[in-house]
Amino acid sequence: MALRIKSYEQYQIDYQKSIENPTQFWEGIANTFTWKKKWENTLDWEFTTPDVKWFEGGSLNITENMLDRHLKKNGDKVAFHWEPNDPCAPNKSITYNELYTEVCKMANALKSLGVEKGDRICIYMPMTLEAVVSIIACARIGAVHSIVFAGFSSNALSDRINDAKAKIVITSDGLNRGAKQVELKGMVDTALETCKSIEHVIVFNCIDSGSNMQEGRDLNYHALIADMPEHCEATEMQSEDLLFILYTSGSTGKPKGVVHTCGGYMVYTSYSFENVFQHEGSDVFWCTADIGWITGHSYIVYGPLLSGATSILFEGVPTYPDCGRFWAICEKYKVNQFYTAPTAIRSLMGEGLDVVNKYDLSNLKVIGSVGEPINEEAWQWYFDNIGKGNCPVVDTWWQTETGGIMLSGLGDLSPMKPTHAGYPLPGIQPVLLDGDGNIIEENEQEGYLCIRFPWPSMIRTTYGDHDRCKNVYFSNYKGYYFTGDGAKRDVDGMYRIIGRVDDVINVSGHRFGTAEIEDAINTNEHAIESAVVGYPHDIKGQGIYAYVVVNAANETDPEEMRKSLIESVSQGIGKIAKPDKIQIVTGLPKTRSGKIMRRILRKIAEGEKTNFGDTSTLLDPEVVELIVKESF
Ligand code: WT7
Repeated sequence: MALRIKSYEQYQIDYQKSIENPTQFWEGIANTFTWKKKWENTLDWEFTTPDVKWFEGGSLNITENMLDRHLKKNGDKVAFHWEPNDPCAPNKSITYNELYTEVCKMANALKSLGVEKGDRICIYMPMTLEAVVSIIACARIGAVHSIVFAGFSSNALSDRINDAKAKIVITSDGLNRGAKQVELKGMVDTALETCKSIEHVIVFNCIDSGSNMQEGRDLNYHALIADMPEHCEATEMQSEDLLFILYTSGSTGKPKGVVHTCGGYMVYTSYSFENVFQHEGSDVFWCTADIGWITGHSYIVYGPLLSGATSILFEGVPTYPDCGRFWAICEKYKVNQFYTAPTAIRSLMGEGLDVVNKYDLSNLKVIGSVGEPINEEAWQWYFDNIGKGNCPVVDTWWQTETGGIMLSGLGDLSPMKPTHAGYPLPGIQPVLLDGDGNIIEENEQEGYLCIRFPWPSMIRTTYGDHDRCKNVYFSNYKGYYFTGDGAKRDVDGMYRIIGRVDDVINVSGHRFGTAEIEDAINTNEHAIESAVVGYPHDIKGQGIYAYVVVNAANETDPEEMRKSLIESVSQGIGKIAKPDKIQIVTGLPKTRSGKIMRRILRKIAEGEKTNFGDTSTLLDPEVVELIVKESF
């Protein structure tokens, strides 16, 4: 494919072209794909409602671009090397031909259950080939997948199923995670007690736990697809038809369903994949994310397959059976591009170099980072010890909403600087705005990172609630997409992401709204009121600090109370959102109008004891002193 930029000069030329004539630029890229019908109108947009349409009038099926078009030349090429949690268990490799067959069988199975174009399918699965097959099978028949990370609780799952009104859940009996096995099917059963829309549950047998199957509703994955035909016509989709929904957290309310559509998402994920990683035909690519997050969607499933790449799909965790697992896998499959999160780098850094130097990492060409700002120390360690000083670190900034990488170096083409994500990809027009919405032209000034022009894989709406999309992303600054991040630009024009400027916290690259965690805490019978903030955490980037006002504080053992509050969060969201610190307090600092002053709570969580800035609007300043006295 002719998507790859091959020099920094070409990047600069292409970037210029993409700004001067965006439609012509994207037409060139889009023309490299297979369309059932060519589009008529490359771009129609306004950022008020908002209303963004790419490649209108065109029709396609993304899976024909991920599978069918590679078969003739590369049918026997490996699409995925699946590496099991247990290094002694057999690994599996699946070729493009085989993947095509599996996808078609699953697509036919879904059809046999009455699934039609536009129906929503929830996927709650471990990192298995069957999960990937399920995702692509949905896209094959135009069903809209909504993947829910398998670490979310049954409550979180039922919220997402109900919001999307999903018809089917595809899940497994359980999953392998390091030395542990985790039950999943029971979680689904509990979730479905409050979900009316679900007609069937398809259960893949992953851990042989012999889970309970509900007659009529539950179906075994393998039995279901066994006799299905091996071809399935790809449903014709309009460019702007929904491809998937992915729930993500914001400052307020419940997680929202970010909607991505077929044409633009296809064009941008493939383009960004090939350029950022400078991926060439025979390279082996490994993105360590989970398919439950956008990184897994775009850079395990869609981007690499669209580009006909060979990728690794890893079931396990970086610390099992020991902390050398990532490096062992890189050696085993001769990985050329490795893409992970700063939190993983920081935790493995602490394990010393012996577990790294045991392995041959000489095939690595590009190493990437994603999910949160990477601190200088971690960047340097990654560059020196994993990349051996030869591999560029691509620090990729993007979001669930952006669909693909927005700011990043392009492999070894671009200059790089630790802690700087770098330059915008072609077609991306970032700006920094001050509090009044004026564009900041000077360098080294922090501003709100916004994007002033549409790009093909951008969010189209929030599922079932278009106003929410408008209010969250397009209302703060008229005419701009607002990212929620603060950033700076240096003298060389490189962007450095400072972090979220809203009430979103980023824990080990997982995104949570403080309100969402508070809601979960408040379901506890003892909780009267709570406030959650993020604080700097050495490994996780940010930790979760909860201040909770409880009843019966005197009668209950504080440790028991904390345990019970943590349990409420585990049930409401999942163990991944457990607060690191819970401080039981008698009151929260509020303004006279009753608003919690989170700014103060954030400072206390960071260890500040005296300097809280202007506190004159506080109703009861004594509350602050009390909280400081007992803070961690
Ligand atoms: C938020 C989006 C899209 C990848 C996974 C996270 C933060 C992401 C970086 C980076 C600094 C980063 C931002 C962003 N973020 N990548 N390279 N440097 N911060 O997706 O869950 O939608 O979270 O993650 O704060 O807004 P997400």
